[in-house]
Amino acid sequence: MVKVGIVGVGTVGESVVKTLLKNRDIIKARAGKEIKVVKGVVRDPSKKRGVDIPLTTDYRQVTESEEVDVVVELMGGVEEAYKVVKSALSHGKPVITANKALLAYHRFELQQIAGELPFQYEASVGGGIPIIKALREGLSANHILQMSGILNGTCNYILTAMEQGGDYQSALQRAQELGYAEADPTLDVNGMDTAHKLLILASVAYNIDVRPEDILVEGIEELSPVDFEFAQEMGYKIKLLAIAKKRGENRVELRVHPTLLPKTQLLSKIEGVMNGVSVIGDVVGETLYYGPGAGGDATASAVVSDLIEVVRGSNTPMLGYKKPLEMGDFQLVPQMEIESCYYFRLGVEDKIGTLAKISSILAEEGISIKNLIQKQREGYVKLLLSTHRSKEANIQRALEKLRAQKFMKREPFFLRVEEK
Ligand code: NAP
Ligand code: HSE
Repeated sequence: MVKVGIVGVGTVGESVVKTLLKNRDIIKARAGKEIKVVKGVVRDPSKKRGVDIPLTTDYRQVTESEEVDVVVELMGGVEEAYKVVKSALSHGKPVITANKALLAYHRFELQQIAGELPFQYEASVGGGIPIIKALREGLSANHILQMSGILNGTCNYILTAMEQGGDYQSALQRAQELGYAEADPTLDVNGMDTAHKLLILASVAYNIDVRPEDILVEGIEELSPVDFEFAQEMGYKIKLLAIAKKRGENRVELRVHPTLLPKTQLLSKIEGVMNGVSVIGDVVGETLYYGPGAGGDATASAVVSDLIEVVRGSNTPMLGYKKPLEMGDFQLVPQMEIESCYYFRLGVEDKIGTLAKISSILAEEGISIKNLIQKQREGYVKLLLSTHRSKEANIQRALEKLRAQKFMKREPFFLRVEEK
């Protein structure tokens, strides 16, 4: 029998314990041994829980215990979780985690510390979708040309609700009640959770070691109902996308932002808590992955699959590389070199010459307008326009010039548009 200690018996931890009991037969047959949770670590042992396992508040009783063979970290956070995982590894115990925030900051260090010890983290990206195994194992023959993903269930749940006329705050509250959101939901809505996940995928795809602060990350907090109206009228959906694009031999664009996506694209059809990832490999072409991105059971499905993998004795390298790349490390493409189509929402004075001035500012920066909608508001006009492919540096300069205009009644807002 393999004895497991779980650090964190909350939404995911409880579902892991329940799954191990509910599917005991099939899990034992697939792993070759029975897997049993012998101890859980929590902050407040007096809290009522849906599972009955021995509890402690001291993680060392799990990470240092002779009675525990494998440690599963499901507490969240970065530095405290790092201590827990490091303690488990230094006591020779394989580790499984669902903690993308921890991995976003410490994945390469933890890979070093783990050495030959198994370290699995399938649940950290895409909830129940086996995207890590797909990328690290199934696609290991490929150079990864591009990855585009909806990686945050909470945001996709909110965006789906807003698209149907719902309100941001109530949708967020519901996502929290359903166990989708992080303990601090700011990480969901400001794009950081998606960035954490993108960096994990990028490490497996490109062996690149960058931090969330190094990449472009924008959240969904500034979206307004009128942006959804524009999207609807122009044939787009708004999705929070994580994007990785290989540029040249060894450069990669990594970014997270709300994106206008043509309705015809498959990722546009992903609704509610569901996640989806498109991965393009140079040998295989485009592959697609879809499934529930958050919630106790979806996540437990991935955590328990990692447990089975560990019990079977898998020795796949944590991030998928046995040696450094001979051509050298991948470098991040600077933000200003990003190229995309764009959408602007401008609140301007309703007077002659305004539109001409805006067109001339955009023309000075080589930005060509594709679509334009004007909506009358009380005391001002809302201009919604999309552009042909432009450079981020030109867009930022145009925004600076627009901000300086007296006719601007609102802070300009923009989104990137991903045309295929
Ligand atoms: P949660 O419901 O807040 O549960 C966290 C658990 O950890 C609770 O049992 C809590 O104890 C315990 N804990 C927290 N800090 C602790 C500390 N310092 N010492 C001891 N115990 C501590 O969180 P969750 O939703 O299960 O998420 C757990 C992890 O999975 C996070 O890393 C999250 O990002 C990741 N994840 C979550 C989902 C999801 O859909 N929820 C999906 C994928 C990945 P108390 O119960 O006593 O408070
Ligand atoms: N808070 C995360 C989400 C949990 O909503 O996607 C899954 O990682």
